[in-house]
Amino acid sequence: MPDAPGGGRWWETAVGYEVYLRSFADGTGDGTGDLPGLIDRLDHLEALGIDVVWVTPFMPSPGADHGYDVADYRDIDPPFGTLADFDRLVAEAHARGIRVLVDIVPNHTSSEHPWFLDALSGPASNKRDWYLWRDPAPDGGPPNNWVSYFGGPAWTFDPVSGQYYCHLFLPEQPDLNWRNPDVRAAFDDILRYWLDRGADGFRIDVAHSLLKDPDLRDNPQLSEIPPGADPMNAFLSFQHLHDMDQDDNPGIFRRWNTIAAEYDALLLGEIALDDFERVRRYTDGGDALHRVFALRTTWMAWNPAYVAESVRDLATTVGPGVAWAFSCHDQPRPVTRFGGGVRGAERTMVLSALSLALDGMPFLYQGQELGIGDGEPLTGIREDPIAVRNEGAAGRDGCRTPMPWAEGSQNGFTTAPTAWLPSRARPSAETVEGQRSRDGSWLERHRELLGLWRRVRHLADRPAELLPTDDDLMIIARRGRLVAIANLSEHPADAAVPEGDWSVVFSSRDGVGERTVEGAVVVPAESALLLRG
Ligand code: NOJ
Repeated sequence: MPDAPGGGRWWETAVGYEVYLRSFADGTGDGTGDLPGLIDRLDHLEALGIDVVWVTPFMPSPGADHGYDVADYRDIDPPFGTLADFDRLVAEAHARGIRVLVDIVPNHTSSEHPWFLDALSGPASNKRDWYLWRDPAPDGGPPNNWVSYFGGPAWTFDPVSGQYYCHLFLPEQPDLNWRNPDVRAAFDDILRYWLDRGADGFRIDVAHSLLKDPDLRDNPQLSEIPPGADPMNAFLSFQHLHDMDQDDNPGIFRRWNTIAAEYDALLLGEIALDDFERVRRYTDGGDALHRVFALRTTWMAWNPAYVAESVRDLATTVGPGVAWAFSCHDQPRPVTRFGGGVRGAERTMVLSALSLALDGMPFLYQGQELGIGDGEPLTGIREDPIAVRNEGAAGRDGCRTPMPWAEGSQNGFTTAPTAWLPSRARPSAETVEGQRSRDGSWLERHRELLGLWRRVRHLADRPAELLPTDDDLMIIARRGRLVAIANLSEHPADAAVPEGDWSVVFSSRDGVGERTVEGAVVVPAESALLLRG
């Protein structure tokens, strides 16, 4: 597999792509996306210019949280394929110069994992301490005030032993006890298992929360939980001092880092913290995680001042550690969040172009290359447990509808009569086939952008810096002999070009069209330019 141009680590100039496997491509005709379907579509990713693909969980799972509840860390869930399919995925991806990241879920297992079934057998089980158990509070209720991300308390009572177990997500996702050395050793082996099979690294789920406060103390409560609050509002009513981001949490990844180093593998953690100084601890020094999803960029709406401030803060505080994702399978798509339609898509493209001139790793979520907003599940269909279990909560189905490959009732996603998440068909203009080779389509513009990146990324040979601007809505990033200028305002504006000879090589408004510039350049409203020196 190729190194980074200039001999750096391979991820320093790589572009990533998230595949939400069950919605990407169905290769077996049962209505669910799978590994054979992904293999069939690798050519699309290669033509797009992707270097590394993160594949959402495919391990055996009862599916309470669509795969984020793992019952066996060393196999493939039959609807997704077999271990032989995984091996073929790695081989076929590598043959195209694409690396593969496995989504590892270490914060919790499925309640049907043999470890938890053993732990449930009682306090004498040698797996009991692999999970977090506590006696009830004096009133018989949960041992502390922690709430689950998915609604209700983070504790479920086990009538057999008379104790509660902890789960930051669903009761079907009991949290592991990362203070137990046997849990750490078990995951060392799991990491090696996938690396030995050829994986190029991991996307690490809920990496910010593996360790909890040793005494499981109450979180300070910031406000009353409003009656009928959705899970996120309930969650935000607390300061999460004790259930997430403990001071010693990054240490777990220092241990993983030594394993990853043996394989030249990438550790990309989900660090869902909004305090970027705290985020920085996970990547600083490069001896823990290599890259993080800090998540704000995946949920922020189009408030240009806030978007600009968030990008600046992340770039200056976390810098090379950032994986620049503006979209993922947990939040409405950016086109939808940024105002919808062409406007939402143009705004998303500004950030995608800008991220190439920032240190870190640009990431796309499947369908982002088509400039599409959220899909529409058919009336009455709800799959996401957040929506199913909480009256009135929107849930995450809209960003998870099947990838539109072609026109037709199932958009070329499956040959089955219906998909796992039945959704309204998208028009041809929102599909891969409808956009391929069509001048100016979102797909072609993304291909131009990433194709250009491949040709010029050797010029990104210095750490990125943000150049000063008088205008808060103008971001100018310089990375070696590459510059990106993003104008987030609704008006065209002049931007100063650094001294020297520069040519505009990409405009998010109208694609490529090389021209030299000197002194200053006019940047159209809500657009980005890329310049090479
Ligand atoms: C984050 C994942 O992205 C999300 O889909 C999942 O529900 C939670 N972690 C729990 O594993």
